[in-house]
Amino acid sequence: MRSAKDFFRPLAVGAPAPVREVPFRPSRMIHFFDPSNERMAAKVPAIASTVDVLLGNLEDAVSADRKEAARAGLVAAAKAHDFGGTQLWTRINSLDSPWALDDLLTLVAEIGHKLDVVMVPKVEGAEDIHYVDRLLAQLEAKAGIGRPILVHAILETATGVANVEEIAGASPRMQGISLGPADLAASRRMKTTRVGGGHPGYLVREDPKGALDAQGESEQPRLTFQQDLWHYTIARMVDACAAHGILPYYGPFGDIKDTTACEDQFRNAFLLGCVGAWSLHPVQIEIAKRVFSPEPADVAWARRVIEAMGDGTGAVMIDGKMQDDATVKQCRVVVDLAEALAARDPELAEAYEAAYKELEPNR
Ligand code: GLV
Ligand code: MG
Repeated sequence: MRSAKDFFRPLAVGAPAPVREVPFRPSRMIHFFDPSNERMAAKVPAIASTVDVLLGNLEDAVSADRKEAARAGLVAAAKAHDFGGTQLWTRINSLDSPWALDDLLTLVAEIGHKLDVVMVPKVEGAEDIHYVDRLLAQLEAKAGIGRPILVHAILETATGVANVEEIAGASPRMQGISLGPADLAASRRMKTTRVGGGHPGYLVREDPKGALDAQGESEQPRLTFQQDLWHYTIARMVDACAAHGILPYYGPFGDIKDTTACEDQFRNAFLLGCVGAWSLHPVQIEIAKRVFSPEPADVAWARRVIEAMGDGTGAVMIDGKMQDDATVKQCRVVVDLAEALAARDPELAEAYEAAYKELEPNR
């Protein structure tokens, strides 16, 4: 076991000092692009300004014969463009693949100074993070990189879920964790054949209103309610992340046309504590932006509660609702997030101010 005193020492001579806190940078949508696809790569500069995070994907969805082209395409895109305040991430190939080592060797040497976060798929335990941690430190030292590249794990194996707490706390480099529902479903032997979202067969049914007939049917139709297949995993991931001061994300939603269900899935994750989701198509960028930015009316209300609570102790009644130390803490979560997002998004800043002013006359 490493001593707690050593936790913040660089893992290689000449590597940058680890961060003590994960910087909170807006990351409502992690927008995936395939750098081996020239048509998609050409759209990168235009898309970069519309997203919080741009991610060059090297893993699944890039065919084996395009892996090297994808890596080279990402290097070229990062060298060619200045992404301004938009973060640049990559998803490398899984650690048991023949490509992961070359992904890290090439990317850190060539574009390490521009790369904010490396997403590592199929993480099973702390040992996977330790491997990447040490390797990144060596490569950062070699390339003379002045700040540590952070690490993001995808939670997409049953073993990974069983070890999610140790993964979240495995290194000061850990930035966050995303749910990977597609691989996780396969790993768990779930009987779904889709990327995220619900399943019509996973439901609860209301009780029958009267007696059942001989066939077990009720006289009146019984309502059914589809349940969330991902509730347990997201809640567990959120707790692990919160306990270790890192950020949780919902991952991909594969049914691009079903924008309503995508929005529902994203919103459930947002309400449970996630800060963002992946966007696989431009249509999902707007959904993530809308869902992962707190509602202006909620922000205005939260500001009102904070003001009314003074030093944050005691209790007050506002519009018939009891507020105390715990509600003021919830309100601070909302306002802190809103302020961080508004600093990057002038339209949102305006909407927050307008909603706050609207509240004034009633006070
Ligand atoms: C993402 O990688 C997933 O498997 O859902
Ligand atoms: Mg996956």
